[in-house]
Amino acid sequence: MEYRKLGQSGLFVSSLSYGSWITFDHQASETQKQCMFAAYDAGVNFFDNAEVYSGGESETVMGDILKSAGWTRDSYIVSSKVFWGGNKPTQKGLSRKHVFDACHAALKRLQLDYIDLYFCHRPDANTPVEETVRAMNDLIHQGKVLYWGTSEWPADLVTQAHSVAREYGLVGPTMEQPQYNMLKRDRVEKEYLRLFKNYGMGSTIWSPLASGILTGKYINGIPVGSRLSKPGLEWLRDIYINDQVDSLNGKIKKLQTLSSELGLTLPQLGISWCAQNQNVSTVILGASKIDQLKETLAADELKKRLTADVMGTIDRILENVPTPESLF
Ligand SMILES: NC(=O)c1ccc[n+]([C@@H]2O[C@H](COP(=O)([O-])OP(=O)(O)OC[C@H]3O[C@@H](n4cnc5c(N)ncnc54)[C@H](OP(=O)(O)O)[C@@H]3O)[C@@H](O)[C@H]2O)c1
Repeated sequence: MEYRKLGQSGLFVSSLSYGSWITFDHQASETQKQCMFAAYDAGVNFFDNAEVYSGGESETVMGDILKSAGWTRDSYIVSSKVFWGGNKPTQKGLSRKHVFDACHAALKRLQLDYIDLYFCHRPDANTPVEETVRAMNDLIHQGKVLYWGTSEWPADLVTQAHSVAREYGLVGPTMEQPQYNMLKRDRVEKEYLRLFKNYGMGSTIWSPLASGILTGKYINGIPVGSRLSKPGLEWLRDIYINDQVDSLNGKIKKLQTLSSELGLTLPQLGISWCAQNQNVSTVILGASKIDQLKETLAADELKKRLTADVMGTIDRILENVPTPESLF
């Protein structure tokens, strides 16, 4: 497994990591135990979580697995995210109160003394950035959080957080967690370039397979049991299955042909492509079955097959390279 520095911090994170959105709950806990063990055995050292995943159950399940695994605490990194805690006014957002309450609740569910990476899951228009930066800074000083970061914040707001931190001598954000995959490139390849360059931020990217679209499984419709078939995720299905679906499927079929020529599966091509970007510190994998994870974990070794020529071919298939004129 390749390890990369999380931006300019001294923390080495495995270039492939494992996350728990949608897939972790009590019903799936045996499968997820197998997956976490397979990931750890393959060298994965980062497990991603959030207060909102399965209403907190995801952290409880992960905490139980970590406890039963008995891995030493200094050998792995765990995250949580704060923003969507509950419906009451004090249970959501990034106020000092919710940031503190959510952190304490996550620590309890995860059965840990500290969270390695703590993310602000979205920007909060109701809370001044300074309040959130101070809350994160204080959690770090209390030893409950080691590094804090943002997820899907506009680059201008992240810049503001750094300015506040510098002005008052507080700890600024170390990493962003944006979506990044072959279909969603602009933030990581354009908007955030100044965050990587000016602040040395790391990135822990999510949905590397666009929720499974980039596995090719949706070309002939929506398979029973797949993510896009699940009740409650209609909003996600609508993002991909719409009047553009024919053009999307055309590109995915071309990528399928290319991956076979390279001796890769399509999921391995998708994960390798994300990992080729050196501004990506870690690609967070998701899996509902152990075989899926074994397949994508192999991308760490196989990614060297994506030469510059291959990357160029992929760009020509995708036709979505962010243009240099619109860099900033
Ligand atoms: N910060 C944020 O806002 C945010 C948002 C989303 C996710 N995340 C994090 O990022 C992690 C990864 O995101 P993601 O789960 O959306 O990743 P993804 O790789 O885009 O999608 C994972 C899903 O694709 C399918 N899949 C994966 N490998 C496969 C394979 N080899 N063959 C066939 N199907 C396969 C599975 O779905 P099915 O089997 O169910 O079809 C799996 O659950 C999450 O767990 C979470 O930790 C963060």
